[in-house]
Amino acid sequence: MIHTSRAEWLEIMNTIINVRSYQELSVPELALEDVLYAFSLGPSLANIQPWELLMVKGSDEREKLIASTLDPFLTPGSLGAQAWIKSAPVIVVVMIEKRRALVRLGERGEIFAIQDTFCAIQNARLAAAVHGLSTSVIREFDPHILQKNLELPWYIEPVAILTIGYSEEEKEIPPRLTVAEIIS
Ligand SMILES: Cc1cc2nc3c(=O)[nH]c(=O)nc-3n(C[C@H](O)[C@H](O)[C@H](O)COP(=O)(O)O)c2cc1C
Repeated sequence: MIHTSRAEWLEIMNTIINVRSYQELSVPELALEDVLYAFSLGPSLANIQPWELLMVKGSDEREKLIASTLDPFLTPGSLGAQAWIKSAPVIVVVMIEKRRALVRLGERGEIFAIQDTFCAIQNARLAAAVHGLSTSVIREFDPHILQKNLELPWYIEPVAILTIGYSEEEKEIPPRLTVAEIIS
């Protein structure tokens, strides 16, 4: 059953771009619930569901998170490069639970766990877009430093940061390859 018109859902998907500045408006609880629920519906190899989420709330925790971020070249000395993240009303650290990830396939399980988790992230971003919320997925950080700063155990590995909020400006959609260009 289709609940949204074709034009609407294509447009919603088209709005999923990385937004790096947010209005000082909080995210409605119901919308956040939907976003997190959509995340939890993500696909995973053998239904392992290798993910965990950490909602970063206090300013101290936010600072610790920012301190692990890097520039787009992942330059080790660029720690703290993504201070813009602080403007987001909701910041989520997306992590894999390595014991769950490794149990079936050993080390190879980690690759699948990361792939699965990014699919779940896209579910969450889609739900956010349906609510008119913008998001950003961030991977330019040092996971070991973030793990240490947030005092996470060895088996909880951060793989992404997700920001959610109302965009401050209407951002242009970056150019995409056409379908013809990606089919060989
Ligand atoms: C896995 C992944 C990691 C990313 N990490 C960062 C990041 O750390 N900081 C950032 O500003 N943007 C990050 N981005 C955003 C990309 O730069 C962005 O998606 C790309 O330029 C295309 O733009 P759009 O998403 O706005 O369409 C990341 C995107 C992906 C998919």
